[in-house]
Amino acid sequence: MSDNSKPIAKVALGTDGPLVGVQGLGCMGMSEFYGPTDEAPARATLEAALDLGVTLFDTADIYGLGANEEFIAPFVRAHRDEITLATKFGIERKADDPHHRGVRNDPEYIRQAVDGSLRRLGVDVIDLYYMHRRDPAVPLAESVGAMAELVRAGKVRHLGLSEVTGAELREAHAVHPVAAVQSEWSLFSRDVEISLTGAAADLGVALVPYSPLGRGFLTGSFQDASQLSADDFRQYQPRFSGENAKRNLDLLEPLREIATAHGATPAQIALAWVQQRARVHGLAVVPIPGTRRAERVRENVAATRIVLDEGELGRLEPIAGQVAGDRYPDMSSTSAARE
Ligand SMILES: NC(=O)c1ccc[n+]([C@@H]2O[C@H](COP(=O)([O-])OP(=O)(O)OC[C@H]3O[C@@H](n4cnc5c(N)ncnc54)[C@H](OP(=O)(O)O)[C@@H]3O)[C@@H](O)[C@H]2O)c1
Repeated sequence: MSDNSKPIAKVALGTDGPLVGVQGLGCMGMSEFYGPTDEAPARATLEAALDLGVTLFDTADIYGLGANEEFIAPFVRAHRDEITLATKFGIERKADDPHHRGVRNDPEYIRQAVDGSLRRLGVDVIDLYYMHRRDPAVPLAESVGAMAELVRAGKVRHLGLSEVTGAELREAHAVHPVAAVQSEWSLFSRDVEISLTGAAADLGVALVPYSPLGRGFLTGSFQDASQLSADDFRQYQPRFSGENAKRNLDLLEPLREIATAHGATPAQIALAWVQQRARVHGLAVVPIPGTRRAERVRENVAATRIVLDEGELGRLEPIAGQVAGDRYPDMSSTSAARE
């Protein structure tokens, strides 16, 4: 089950995008959101992932207000030609107000944002540059046009979008090819299946599911909000609080049973489900579970070799429809709000 002796399979991001390992690594939690991080084990996690064939490394300019890009920079520079480096722009934060989130998609902002990311990462080109959130007040063609200019200027290799609908993806792709869409997709969050998966399959765009472990909930390690540190962003997540959390814990039962039958962990079954669900939609998929621990990367990567049968998939099918609580406290900037 956990035979990691061979590197994981590879898949292409988009029709002319890079080949990457079928599972990537989310680096966000190394700098913010899920409680305090020990630096040395987090650095070891990056190296362990690469050793296992993980090549897509995911960050964003807002994670730790730039600190996450700076944190992974030495790793990126040491392995520049072995990895696919993905970062994002589009969410504006304020250092003096941790809860503030603005969305910026205007060309001038995009041109400034890319230079900031390149500087913090210490590289001269970003392999995959995502628009993190969509501001409907700015015409999409204008924003994607500005992103395409970055490709022509050699600052960015491939374009990506995050939290877009199927219609938005089609509109953007007509301006410039989109290699990948990064959106939340897991046993708990399936609104991408409304319109995005169909459009991505039609256009040959890859899906990069974020929070494939439901921000850790699907691993079975969360019991109640009292175990979260005061700065843990999940304190404010509806699914992790009060009665919702209790109800959602009950939903993990089939996951635990299927895990036991496979000699696997619930996290592995949740990751195997995302891989297989993408095949149903005819999509290339590269989930990016986030972890700061090398042993968890090994566990998560091993999930790429698990195959769930029809009966097991059928037992997991109803879970998303029964989840209590939205996936964000404020859903207004998600794709679901524009479906
Ligand atoms: N585009 C967007 O809007 C967006 C939004 C959110 C996230 N992201 C990206 O997606 C990545 C992944 O999402 P995420 O980090 O939010 O959620 P996730 O991958 O669903 O879950 C991460 C949480 O699960 C824990 N974990 C990971 N593997 C585990 C295992 N095998 N057993 C037990 N616990 C495990 C991690 O803790 P430890 O670190 O302690 O292992 C962390 O608390 C992020 O790092 C970020 O790069 C993008």
